[in-house]
Amino acid sequence: MGAIFTSLERTLAAGVVLLIAIVVIVGAVTGQMTKIDHAWAAFVMRWLHVISGVMWIGLLWYLNFVQVPTMPKIQPVESRTAITKFIAPNVLFWFRWAALATVVTGLLVALMNGYIVQALTLRPGFIMIGIGMWMALIMAYNVWFIIWPNQKKILGIVEATAEEKAKAAPVALYASRFNTMFSIGMLYCMVAQQNAPV
Ligand code: HEM
Repeated sequence: MGAIFTSLERTLAAGVVLLIAIVVIVGAVTGQMTKIDHAWAAFVMRWLHVISGVMWIGLLWYLNFVQVPTMPKIQPVESRTAITKFIAPNVLFWFRWAALATVVTGLLVALMNGYIVQALTLRPGFIMIGIGMWMALIMAYNVWFIIWPNQKKILGIVEATAEEKAKAAPVALYASRFNTMFSIGMLYCMVAQQNAPV
């Protein structure tokens, strides 16, 4: 076990091997082997989409539920640099690239299912997923064009005066809180397309 769990790469590889085993065993037991066609490709894209979305929103919620409320309690104040210098830049790396991956895979899911235009123009039958997609697109815009540029100043990744840093802090916080607020309804709209009588 240690040979696997001491490395993140090997842990992830083990997750993929486990998934393959599940698919093969279930296929053998039920006699229904996976057909590699367009529907399967669209389904795999949906799975990749949900995985990226979990990484993105998981980190958004980590920031809002854990990091932001805990920071002011960390004593002595100097030890907060462990977060700002090491944890936060790493969180923001996975956060912003997961946001982009979620957008790309989400748009591909809509394209592969043949309703991207209907969803983005909020046509009947696609209104809920369309609203969810627009909400998530606004959230991704916030990540890349508001949160990340302001966080770069706050964390000292780019040069900024003390005044610029003080200005950037509430902008980044409010955009992050806005995304947390949106995430509730956005996720309802995402799952509504398949599952809710809307
Ligand atoms: C701009 C970004 C996004 C776009 C374009 C997008 C697009 C889509 C599309 C087209 C679907 C398939 C709906 C269907 O036919 O059932 C979907 C489903 C879904 N999305 Fe997104 N999405 C985005 C962001 C997110 C985010 C941030 C999450 C967070 C986890 C997320 C989670 C889900 C989930 C859980 C489903 C349902 C899968 C299912 O019911 O099988 N999406 N999304």
